Amino acid sequence: MKILMINGSPRRTGNTALALQALEKKLQADHEVELLQSYSMTVTPCLACLECKKNDGFCVQRDDTNTMLQKINDAECIVFGTPVFWIGMSGQLKLFIDKFVARQNIFKQKPKKTVSVVVGGSGPKTRQYELIAEQFSSISNFLCWNHICSASFSAFGIGDIIKCPDFETKIQEIVTAINQ
Ligand SMILES: Cc1cc2nc3c(=O)[nH]c(=O)nc-3n(C[C@H](O)[C@H](O)[C@H](O)COP(=O)(O)O)c2cc1C
Repeated sequence: MKILMINGSPRRTGNTALALQALEKKLQADHEVELLQSYSMTVTPCLACLECKKNDGFCVQRDDTNTMLQKINDAECIVFGTPVFWIGMSGQLKLFIDKFVARQNIFKQKPKKTVSVVVGGSGPKTRQYELIAEQFSSISNFLCWNHICSASFSAFGIGDIIKCPDFETKIQEIVTAINQ
């Protein structure tokens, strides 16, 4: 399967990056995996000009939007990785998702599995993780995609995620869900 992972964190060696790297390692044996780093791409905010609607789904902005949209289109599974920023996904990842408006009708025609990997500083019982999982699930439903797994981790400082006692178990659960 063609799997596209997106790291919505600005921290190159942060917790989301570590989770996605661990996942990538396990998935690489059986799948074609690509990891997009939001910090090394320029995706400017959607202007809501809707020029894309007259333009075969191509955004008019001269940045990395169209490259990103093509990669999303080609993937059979998308792993959205994000830190929690103010009870939601990061602004960096949201900028990517806002641009899905350009291809939403095209995207709806190609089924995909989606996974969310969310890392926040607050404890695992805080409601933010449910809210964010629900948002990824609703976005996926809207696009006729299947949200198969919402994984959340509690870690604050860079590298703390590795100290989570259930880190490896949760990574393996994601792999199992993707492989089903
Ligand atoms: C701007 C900002 C907002 C944050 N908001 C939250 C929040 O609402 N809830 C939370 O649990 N953690 C919050 N955090 C903490 C991060 O989610 C946490 O440090 C996480 O491990 C960062 O992941 P990363 O290393 O992949 O960037 C926030 C951090 C920043 C910088």
